Amino acid sequence: MFGHPIKHSASPVMQNAGIELLKLDWRYLACDVAPEQLKSAIDGAKAMKFVGLNLTVPHKLLAVPMVDAFDESAAIWGAVNTIRFEMRVGGDWKPLSQVGPDCEGEVRAHGFNTDADAIARALHEDLGLELEGSRVLLLGAGGAGRVAALKLATSNVGALWIVNRTQEKAEALAAEIRQRYPSVTVSEGYPTDDVDLILNSTSLGLREDDASPIDETKFPLKRSKRVYDMIYRPAMTPLLKRAHSAGCRTANGMGMLLYQGAKALEIWSGQTAPITAMKEALRKNLYGG
Ligand code: ATR
Repeated sequence: MFGHPIKHSASPVMQNAGIELLKLDWRYLACDVAPEQLKSAIDGAKAMKFVGLNLTVPHKLLAVPMVDAFDESAAIWGAVNTIRFEMRVGGDWKPLSQVGPDCEGEVRAHGFNTDADAIARALHEDLGLELEGSRVLLLGAGGAGRVAALKLATSNVGALWIVNRTQEKAEALAAEIRQRYPSVTVSEGYPTDDVDLILNSTSLGLREDDASPIDETKFPLKRSKRVYDMIYRPAMTPLLKRAHSAGCRTANGMGMLLYQGAKALEIWSGQTAPITAMKEALRKNLYGG
């Protein structure tokens, strides 16, 4: 995995637990790669015949011109969080996990994105939410908010409201959705009616003294059935605590981290990820016990 910074990443522990259960002779490592070195680092991994890579902040957008082929999941969001290295064998490109370390041939970097599907899966598994027809208030219009909004739009949510500190970013995101998915009802600002989900994609809540990501005088939490916070450390953000007290069903972002990682392991290995072992390793790493 390449990121910058990367020190506190929980992905190595989660992925190595999955790798062990699948009995693969692999190791998952976290490397701090400065943005200006990203191209060299990807080319180096390709030359060394790595099976694949994960990319995290700030590399997901930067990597787009650096991969040789796009899966639809990466093309649709314009961001890459998973690379699978593949070798040309005859007329086909085969994952390096299938050709073995001694084979020689042209290698390409195939870009995927597993973040968006992970959002939908986490909302379904952790909060029992079917996105189709749901009414969603999205807090934040940064990188994570954009992927979430586009995933909600492609999942045919019933209505979407976007609130962001910098209003122009919320407007730009709403305009992009209107243009790409005209059948989705999208607005900027707070809803006037109740919603099925409030989804926090802002970074507010990471620190104890952060302000709230939502103006509860404009939209009280009890008017949402569910609240999902993409933050997973701390386990209970102030938003989730208040939402719990208000009677909402709540979940933090651990599920998103788990499902994006599980999907990446499946892309590299071609096998079903051992989700229970990965989840347990992740939970222990994040929260101890
Ligand atoms: P990420 O890739 O994690 O989404 P990002 O693109 O920097 O990171 O987005 C951070 C989000 O948190 C944005 O919605 C940001 O609001 P702005 O677009 O107005 O910057 C929001 N955010 C961060 N700090 C904030 C603060 N102090 N108050 C309100 N919103 C904040």
